Amino acid sequence: MSGLQSLRGMNDVLPSESPLWQYLESQVKSVLDQYSYREMRMPIVESTELFARGVGEHTDVVEKEMYTFLDRNEDSLTLRPEGTAGCVRAALQHGLTHNQIQRLWYQGPMFRYERPQKGRYRQFFQIGAETFGIASPDIDAELIVMTHRLFKKLGISDSLTLHLNTLGSSEARARYRKALVDYLEGVKDKLDEDSQRRLYVNPMRILDSKSKSTQALLDGAPQFKDYIDEESVEHFDQLRKLLDAAGVDYVVNPRLVRGLDYYTKTVFEWMTDALGAQGTVCGGGRYDGLIPLLGGKPTPGSGFAMGVERLLLLLETLNVVPDSIYNTVDVFMVVAGEQAQLSAFELAESVRSLPSKPRLQMNCGGGSFKSQMKKADKSGAQIALILGDDEANQKIVQVKDLRGDMQQETAAWSDLAEIFAKFSI
Ligand code: HAM
Repeated sequence: MSGLQSLRGMNDVLPSESPLWQYLESQVKSVLDQYSYREMRMPIVESTELFARGVGEHTDVVEKEMYTFLDRNEDSLTLRPEGTAGCVRAALQHGLTHNQIQRLWYQGPMFRYERPQKGRYRQFFQIGAETFGIASPDIDAELIVMTHRLFKKLGISDSLTLHLNTLGSSEARARYRKALVDYLEGVKDKLDEDSQRRLYVNPMRILDSKSKSTQALLDGAPQFKDYIDEESVEHFDQLRKLLDAAGVDYVVNPRLVRGLDYYTKTVFEWMTDALGAQGTVCGGGRYDGLIPLLGGKPTPGSGFAMGVERLLLLLETLNVVPDSIYNTVDVFMVVAGEQAQLSAFELAESVRSLPSKPRLQMNCGGGSFKSQMKKADKSGAQIALILGDDEANQKIVQVKDLRGDMQQETAAWSDLAEIFAKFSI
């Protein structure tokens, strides 16, 4: 194929796929509404400094994956790689964190220059939630319970496992980091290449190294549980109690560290085995240090983001999407004759105004009766309305059942609501 193509790792969503996207988005939105989260819409482009400071200079995201460029004013800008930093920036800028509690959500494209593969793209969509101003573990539990409700509603919860960990306070982490580096320096030559590089810039990430030999070396490493602060332990215990009481199962995974620098205390991920290597569909946690880091008064924060494409892949793999979402037309209108053509819009508009709000597709562009009936069938509509000149003059119409075996009938325009009701339209 010649001509221009979309960029590698950046996908079009075709009309045949958009019903699935809309289905997921509406399910997520209805759950967020039930928990009184309010939508925030942030710009897709922000100053590079926001992510360097917020996400962390030595994270993979900032070091290797950002789409960064100079604008015409020579300012360094970046396509957002995630939503938390921008959401905090916006909340601070508009005074939303001052003496207030916020429950916010956002959705939209994020950009990371990663190697594309199934479930991993360079432009991908997230739906995220962030809360500001609540230090206690009940809000961490609420965020998790909310995702659990969503995954049950979508019919995918049996294929997902919740991994939970605590990263402690930043002071505890600094102490642990030092102990970990001291230990790993002793075995430095045996570490995989990536871990050697990370040893001084981001040693905690070595804990979730994919290398088997590195993982074996870690068996002898200092354990974070010996360094964690008492307050974080209590926070984590209370979170676990709340999740137990709410009936949400989890596994405590001490090697879960997450890839972004802002986390403190709680971190979690929902993972599946059904998607191959890219099995994390949702990740999040607490970030009590981020708001002050970005210039605000000390204010706690906690949130998560879900990968929309990964959730869609999972819905398809598990075959849990109702077929009905792909039906986008209820009624197709076939128009034959000059007078009929003139009356067709009047009838179509009155149908669209019925209280049941039928979705009517009009035959536009002419065509023989036969070709119009073919289009009617292809549209997926349940009913064809057939309007000829005689019918138009008498304000009647032929009603044809396209899917079942109801007799074709002639109906007055004014009786259509009653007839549609028989088809649940
Ligand atoms: P994250 O773990 O980097 O966290 O991303 C969240 C989710 O976005 C992942 O679990 C995954 O489903 C999806 N995702 C990430 N990268 C890609 C990619 N290249 N292609 C497809 N999907 C991807 C964050 O972004 C944090 N801001 C989450 C958060 C909010 N923590 C607290 N509040």
